Amino acid sequence: MRLFFALWPDEPAAAKLAELSRELATLSGGRPVAAAKIHLTLAFLGDVEDSALEPARRAVEGSRHPPFEVALDQVGSFKGARVAWAGCAEPSRGLVDLQSELDSRLRRAGFALDERPYTPHVTLARKVTRAIGRTPTEPIRWQARSFALVRSELGRGSYATLEEWALG
Ligand code: 2AM
Repeated sequence: MRLFFALWPDEPAAAKLAELSRELATLSGGRPVAAAKIHLTLAFLGDVEDSALEPARRAVEGSRHPPFEVALDQVGSFKGARVAWAGCAEPSRGLVDLQSELDSRLRRAGFALDERPYTPHVTLARKVTRAIGRTPTEPIRWQARSFALVRSELGRGSYATLEEWALG
């Protein structure tokens, strides 16, 4: 099972991101990400055994963070992954703190996480054929009030939230 921790945008931000996703897909020659799948990943656990679910839950239990604002104020693309995204020029302290705490708790619990520095982004188009230069955009904001453990249902092409933890 493929697991990751993520932030879901609230309704208004999700609607704006869905619109931006269609625009970016057109610009990049890629496919828009389905509105219901648009999220910001905090930690990617990868393909793990079912038995890893409980340790993942336990690892993050007891983390305490106040809610914080996410402001996505630029777009761009990753050439290797062939995705176009919305990201933050300067991630908020709240986002950086939550991500780094989850990252260290999960590593201590034995999960092998990506070694590359964390670059917060919301993937909005996949299989892009034209690069999108990093460009400032009208910020899309929401207040993150919880984070979620999500399972990627590979066969069905959808995501299922397994559990959510409130911030604050
Ligand atoms: P992406 O949107 O940039 O593809 C589920 O796949 C989530 O985990 C996505 O947000 C994805 O980022 C992220 N992720 C991070 N590292 C990944 C990897 N090595 N393979 C697949 N997804 C990864």
